[in-house]
Amino acid sequence: MNRFIDLRSDTVTKPTPEMHKAMFAAMVGDDVFGEDPTVNTLQEKAARLLGKETALFVASGTMANQLSIKAHTQPGDEVIIEAGAHAMNFEGGAGAVVSGVQFFGIPGNRGIFDAAQVEAAIRIDDVHFPVSRLIVIENTHNRGGGAVFPLSKIHPIRELATQRGLRMHMDGARLWNACVAAGISPAEYAEPFDSVSVCLSKALGCPVGSLVVGSKDFIKRVHRFRKMVGGGMRQAGFLAAAGIYALDHHIDRLEEDHRKAKKMAEGLANIKNVLIRQEEVETNILFFDVSRAERTAHEVTADLRKKGVLVHPTAKTRIRCVTHMDVSFADIDQALHVIEGVMKG
Ligand SMILES: Cc1ncc(COP(=O)(O)O)c(C=O)c1O
Repeated sequence: MNRFIDLRSDTVTKPTPEMHKAMFAAMVGDDVFGEDPTVNTLQEKAARLLGKETALFVASGTMANQLSIKAHTQPGDEVIIEAGAHAMNFEGGAGAVVSGVQFFGIPGNRGIFDAAQVEAAIRIDDVHFPVSRLIVIENTHNRGGGAVFPLSKIHPIRELATQRGLRMHMDGARLWNACVAAGISPAEYAEPFDSVSVCLSKALGCPVGSLVVGSKDFIKRVHRFRKMVGGGMRQAGFLAAAGIYALDHHIDRLEEDHRKAKKMAEGLANIKNVLIRQEEVETNILFFDVSRAERTAHEVTADLRKKGVLVHPTAKTRIRCVTHMDVSFADIDQALHVIEGVMKG
């Protein structure tokens, strides 16, 4: 069998030969002593790009989100978040374990919610209730099918948060996709937030790495918590070099991934028994439904795997595909051909 066409996630992207070169050429030092020049350069670059005072390199998006939540809250606080958000549903219950917080999940429309919904979720000052402390916004929203959170909805939420004394964190694991799709700069998107996490290992080809950005005081707290959970890395400059390369070379090209997703959605819409809302495909993530074929997503996924196409079942009849730099337009054509064959039965 030839190689798989892997549409399960954009986390499968691998370093390019040029990124390898940058990694092996990196100057490194002991980052626990703050002496890795390449990590320092990456952190300065990320802080500048996102318009915040400073940044910290961490191992993963989960670590970035959960350490941010910890640094913003006290045990017993409540975090207002969208009901399908990654930080609430797919990070191993870390909010409860690491920070001792509980989540209030707002039902969003593809992950998007507005200030009125947040206002209704904020607790009154009464001993019966937890203290509403933090609002988390996921942009783009993974379970929402890569939906871009409109800046016009973020500003009123920020106003409300300021009035009511709440803090705001953005899970920007795929913020770069939102920026490219909306034509909004990372700094403009980050401005209303007290902290932002971004990932280097989704769609950008880096092997490892995320960053948290925020004020110096906030990042000092995150830094302490990173140490506590064993996230202090030593010669991490080899990884940071991949991140610098990715920020310089792999952001603008995300537009191509978005075109691949749209092309895929268009093709899927023409396949019998496939249900897809083409108009909802904004970035590099798409979902389709196979209920009309009277088959489960797991069955269809297993059949596709036998024919060299990897996808991700996310519900009984729902399948996720994510386009990225390691699948070509020709791969999309081939994947559509295979899906058509499998859906015919
Ligand atoms: C929106 C979002 N946030 C956070 C994460 C967690 O990232 P990691 O897998 O690096 O921990 C993911 C992972 O897919 C994600 O999609």
